Amino acid sequence: MSAFKDNLLAGKTAFVAGGTSGINLGIARRYAELGARVAVCGRNPEKAQAAAATIGHGAIGLSCDVRDYAAIRGGLEQSVAKLGQLDIVISGAAGNFVAPALGMSANGFRTVVDIDLNGTFNVFRACYDLLKRPGASLIAITAGQAVNPSMFQAHVCAAKAGINQLIRVLAMEWGPAGVRVNGISPGPIANTEGMARLAPTPEAEKAITSRIALRRYGEVGEVAESAVFLVSDSARYVTGTILDCDGGSQLGDARDRTQGQGLAG
Ligand code: NAP
Ligand code: COA
Repeated sequence: MSAFKDNLLAGKTAFVAGGTSGINLGIARRYAELGARVAVCGRNPEKAQAAAATIGHGAIGLSCDVRDYAAIRGGLEQSVAKLGQLDIVISGAAGNFVAPALGMSANGFRTVVDIDLNGTFNVFRACYDLLKRPGASLIAITAGQAVNPSMFQAHVCAAKAGINQLIRVLAMEWGPAGVRVNGISPGPIANTEGMARLAPTPEAEKAITSRIALRRYGEVGEVAESAVFLVSDSARYVTGTILDCDGGSQLGDARDRTQGQGLAG
């Protein structure tokens, strides 16, 4: 169920970097349903075309790597040429694998930082002069690892922490021009590549959900609703914030410890 009316984003144009699968595709799909013109991009051109086709509503799929500034600038320019100046830009491309720091080469660490953190700088820096200003809204997709250190995730923790600070700095620098910059920090989301990598078995999933206040994984559509709120007029005085859409995951371990061991157990 959604609180947003059907034509909320009519007349708006959105570019979703990393919008060809998972959470970001869900955001792109919801924006299109609410009337926005939407472009999605990823590295794989066939996947991008297929994603655009599933979104419908005239969405376009582009191929560019966010690690390559000229490539992402080219993708943004193509989007503007086909759909018009940008009101909304999402930076959601990311990479992840599970490995201890000692099992990670310098290139492995750099690769994830390059996609997540440098990629977010590239997307936001490259889009700035293509934005409708004032009124444009940018969102970076971050994660709980930005705040809570997580073993075997050194690359993601470092990259997402950097993204959180980038969000705040850009919100300060670009606020005077009427550009809002926010983040969304999803919790574990069902049926995504991210969770397939982080919790590949039902046992691992159960161990995670037992610690979450709301006792379940989130849904792609639930993150999309947060992404609609942040770009909507209802959030017009919200900038530099990171919205946790995570069922309470970041509050800490919410297992019921009243049985057996006592409250302090
Ligand atoms: P996903 O399905 O793997 O989506 C990643 C997207 O980024 C794809 O469209 C992928 O397309 C694209 N991409 C990857 N590397 C790229 C690059 N170098 N340049 C351009 N595009 C690139 O991932 P997801 O699990 O839905 O996660 C989406 C976002 O949510 C990420 O930022 C992730 O950190 C965050 N998040 C996820 C969870 C979760 O539960 N899944 C939790 C917290 C935060 P190509 O492969 O074609 O490039
Ligand atoms: N353990 C340790 N190192 C790993 C690894 C793993 N499981 N997977 C990849 N690496 C290392 C590689 O060995 C390589 O380092 P090396 O050159 O020193 O050997 C480095 O990471 C880059 O790997 P490569 O496959 O060349 O990178 P890529 O740019 O083709 O792909 C990844 C990027 C590795 C992040 C890939 O997993 C990816 O494309 N992910 C996108 C989807 C995703 O992760 N979604 C979830 C988002 S939360």
